[in-house]
Amino acid sequence: MQIVAPAIEGYLASLDDGDPQLERVAAEGEALGLPIVNAAVGRFLEALVVATGTRRVLEIGTANGYSALWLARSLPADGQILTLEIDPQRAAIARRHFEEAGLADRVDVIVGDSARMVHKVAGPFDLIFNDGDKRQYGPLLDRLASLLRPGGVLITDNVLWDGEVVPGLVTPPRREPDDTAAIAAYNRRLAADERLVTSFLPIRDGLAVSVRRRI
Ligand SMILES: C[S@@+](CC[C@H](N)C(=O)[O-])C[C@H]1O[C@@H](n2cnc3c(N)ncnc32)[C@H](O)[C@@H]1O
Repeated sequence: MQIVAPAIEGYLASLDDGDPQLERVAAEGEALGLPIVNAAVGRFLEALVVATGTRRVLEIGTANGYSALWLARSLPADGQILTLEIDPQRAAIARRHFEEAGLADRVDVIVGDSARMVHKVAGPFDLIFNDGDKRQYGPLLDRLASLLRPGGVLITDNVLWDGEVVPGLVTPPRREPDDTAAIAAYNRRLAADERLVTSFLPIRDGLAVSVRRRI
């Protein structure tokens, strides 16, 4: 189930001039069947980078580098993104895209399981984009919150999961029930987490924007 009506998504897309390079990477990702974000989410990530004065980003789930490209091009020249990807072939495709975009100097693709790699990276980060394994959302939350600077932002993708987190809305369910249960539990935990102020936004497949409190 598409959360935002296709006509609305189309209208919003028509307001954005787009960028041929990003469009090529998005088309390639779709052709490979990769579940990448869309341009509306990319633009939102860009707005958050600018609003928060972000210089250091951690991304979980690189795929072919589409969302990391949006983030990388929004950063100042001395900005840095660490992006974690378990699949070496996807990581190689992403690295090629960063080179083609002239942004390779500010993106480090780290190949490995994020469950392990998040304990090897050093914070603080201004912004973290979590778009990796959905069953890892809950287990990684404490570590990611501790890697954020006060006032930093954790963005989590797919928190509405095609509407399947709403009990009984999609029948029969098309998503893996364990993934759905993991995301629903994560959303409840995120909403109650006193370290963070979280807003759930129905953009594309649902984004949670969680700001780490300053006190
Ligand atoms: C939804 S895609 C990321 C899409 C990307 N953020 C974008 O929008 O352009 C999720 C990615 O996470 C990777 N992934 C899944 N489990 C992982 C894990 N345990 N550690 C690191 N990466 C993982 C998958 O291989 C996949 O490429």
